[in-house]
Amino acid sequence: MTVQPSDSILIVDFGSQVTQLIARRVREAGVYSEIAPFTMAEAAFTRMAPKGIILSGSPASVLDDNGPRIPQSILDSGLPILGICYGQQSLMHQLGGEVTGGDGGEFGRAFIDINDTCVLFDGLWSVGEKHQVWMSHGDKVTKLAEGFRPVASSAGAPFAVIANDEKRIYAMQFHPEVVHTPDGAKLLKNFVRHVCGLKGDWTMAEFRKTKIAEIREFVGEGRVICGLSGGVDSAVAAVLIHEAIGDQLTCVYVDHGLMRLGESEQVVSLFRGHFNIPLVHVDATTLFMKGLEGVSDPEAKRKFIGKTFIDVFEDEARKIGGADFLAQGTLYPDVIESVSFTGGPSVTIKSHHNVGGLPERMNMKLVEPLRELFKDEVRDLGRELGLPDIFVGRHPFPGPGLAIRIPGEVNRERADVLRKADAIYLEEIRNAGLYDAIWQAFAVLLPVKTVGVMGDGRTYDNVCALRAVTSTDGMTADIYPFDAAFLSRVATRIINEVKGINRVVYDYTSKPPGTIEWE
Ligand code: XMP
Repeated sequence: MTVQPSDSILIVDFGSQVTQLIARRVREAGVYSEIAPFTMAEAAFTRMAPKGIILSGSPASVLDDNGPRIPQSILDSGLPILGICYGQQSLMHQLGGEVTGGDGGEFGRAFIDINDTCVLFDGLWSVGEKHQVWMSHGDKVTKLAEGFRPVASSAGAPFAVIANDEKRIYAMQFHPEVVHTPDGAKLLKNFVRHVCGLKGDWTMAEFRKTKIAEIREFVGEGRVICGLSGGVDSAVAAVLIHEAIGDQLTCVYVDHGLMRLGESEQVVSLFRGHFNIPLVHVDATTLFMKGLEGVSDPEAKRKFIGKTFIDVFEDEARKIGGADFLAQGTLYPDVIESVSFTGGPSVTIKSHHNVGGLPERMNMKLVEPLRELFKDEVRDLGRELGLPDIFVGRHPFPGPGLAIRIPGEVNRERADVLRKADAIYLEEIRNAGLYDAIWQAFAVLLPVKTVGVMGDGRTYDNVCALRAVTSTDGMTADIYPFDAAFLSRVATRIINEVKGINRVVYDYTSKPPGTIEWE
């Protein structure tokens, strides 16, 4: 299932770490874009019939015989092309220019001189000006292919920006997609609007309309089942699918007893009350708590919860007579195949919990209406569909729930203690107006007891750790620098109001080396 807006841009991925950001910037300019690994670019090109092509950066070198190449059919298409970094080098390499390697390169902030006019600079940069950009290259273009002219240069790259107006091919050595190139988003916007001539009218309202029609056609008279996790993605997917096919959709919410305070009630009332969507609410707390008895290894906890979740879901699906389709809230970052040059599998840090494996076991087809969207786009779509802001803007929450925030053995009592502390922490964050500035914040209940004094008495209770991070995609994260007064207010409230906790600490670890969750 894919949407096919008539105006789209194909981004050919040569394996850069920041290719996703190109797609983001193009979409922010109101134009639909998709990324395809260079090995699959021709098929994507035929399927999408794009109005322009952007070539990404790469850790590879065009001087290497095995370096990735631009498919010839794309070069011959006559469509506008923008090459970024490796994209520029590969254009020159394949069109008759020259690329040289090995004399230093430029990494980090650099300044370019604007030497000539260029459509990419429209309303932005003028001849004679100097502008900050972000460079990250070892090789560089040393001779231009025929028909190209240099329009900007830097100390380390004589051809920092080049243009071939007749062929509508433009290229730059720096990365316009990263925030360290302050005008980069505008350069990309000029490419899609002024070079490719696109109107920039791709909106969530349009996406909603196209998707609904597509879901109806794909599902036909079939029955769809959707596992709600309490998170934004599955909720948005469910509401969208319900709008398309009504009561052919049934949602199943498996409550493992490890949700945050009031979360299950919120999900049930939202779906049954507000949206009138058929919802099976399974309270499987006892089953999960029993199975977690004596389990303290993080991976064992994750595996048990993932497997049991699927078992319960499968049982419930059977009870309602099965389904032809399984709906999932899969997002674009999970779909994009990143290009590996080493060919090796990446290391498993944690086994993430999802409903993988179910479709084959139950002989169901997948409906994944959010496959083309980034997280913030899903939030926009949620708002467009009328989901309340407080729900749509929620911090991410992991499938295994509070179990991975209770190092050591998990039981009902510890989950209750943590729920209370977590709710106080989040309430204070909201009251301070900080909720949206933080990617994720939560409390962790440590299996450590310390001595304290309250009133005239000695206490011997648990330690609670607070975590808050900023991040763009959860892959890396920085700690949120609360002021001391805020932290001491939260600590005091938790110790006073939550029986079982007598000490609060703040986690100062970024990711890497830490992960966001504690397990
Ligand atoms: P880590 O702890 O790996 O977390 O730095 C990165 C992001 O992923 C979330 N997370 C999960 N989400 N199922 C999920 O749906 C999981 O099993 C899972 N484990 C971690 C985590 O909350 C953070 O946002």
